[in-house]
Amino acid sequence: MTEEYDLLEPDNVEGVGDEWEEIDVSDTAADQVQRQRDREFNEFRERLKNTEQFKVEQSVFDDATLAALYKLVQDGYVEAFGGPISSGKEANVYLALGGEASRGDGSSGDQSHDEVAVKVYRINASDFRDMREYLVGDPRFEELSGDKKRVVLAWTRKEFANLKRAQKAGVRVPDPIAVERNVLVMEFLGTDGDRAPTLDDAHLENPETAFEVVREYMRRLYDVGLVHGDLSEYNIVVHDGELCIIDLGQAVTVHHPNSGEFLTRDCANVAAFFNRQGMDVRGDELEEWIREHADPDK
Ligand SMILES: Nc1ncnc2c1ncn2[C@@H]1O[C@H](COP(=O)(O)OP(=O)(O)O)[C@@H](O)[C@H]1O
Ligand SMILES: [Mg+2]
Repeated sequence: MTEEYDLLEPDNVEGVGDEWEEIDVSDTAADQVQRQRDREFNEFRERLKNTEQFKVEQSVFDDATLAALYKLVQDGYVEAFGGPISSGKEANVYLALGGEASRGDGSSGDQSHDEVAVKVYRINASDFRDMREYLVGDPRFEELSGDKKRVVLAWTRKEFANLKRAQKAGVRVPDPIAVERNVLVMEFLGTDGDRAPTLDDAHLENPETAFEVVREYMRRLYDVGLVHGDLSEYNIVVHDGELCIIDLGQAVTVHHPNSGEFLTRDCANVAAFFNRQGMDVRGDELEEWIREHADPDK
């Protein structure tokens, strides 16, 4: 592994979207598909159920989630589903084979991805109330009503929007490819189906450079008005000699009432990690540096 952690060049710092960008949380095409329940869909469901890797996970996929996966296949973002990469508190992540639209000739931008990661948020996640806390106070979701399903759907769209905004700001994140209902498709960080290690697992020969990159990415996020909110060595992946920031579902704008607290916590986590790597960094100094070198209100 190279230890040079090149910084990504920001290519379009203009137009990263602002506080008032609209994020559509209305009924999606997948909901319509679900209502139609055509024969093809039932066949797809049977096929998926018979897929070896999915058998154990069946309870995760209610019919509407299956409909969303079906829509993503039909739209050419996913060709085939692979095994689970991770089962978290709110979401499961799977490896999948990208379809035509993920391989660069679709509307998802100009990057090509043979393998993709599919993150499926569970509608019945027990702590959707926590999710609500992160959504309320974010002006992008002012009109969000309280029910579980809508909260999770908004959350999924928020992660997609946050990934886009971070990417435009020059932060290395998984390329966001598509979002459908509670399912997010993004670039798979890894090689030949093996996921790239998180910073926690990776062996760091040069923590100083890694710290500088993480600090700069935190600054770039803050500069476009975002605070990650769950940043630590577990949500930074080392892939192809690059550090990639993942898991932006809970990221909030600087106008969220708790954004200051989240930034302080992110800085403390990052500082603690690099201190364990033998460096001498402090969370409060990191935060001060970020605040001094970024202008989220511009
Ligand atoms: N795009 C991706 N490519 C490869 N692995 C990923 C990707 N996204 C997530 N993962 C893996 O799945 C794990 C969980 O994903 P994450 O987005 O952090 O969800 P959670 O909210 O469950 O922490 C990560 O720690 C990482 O190992
Ligand atoms: Mg995570």
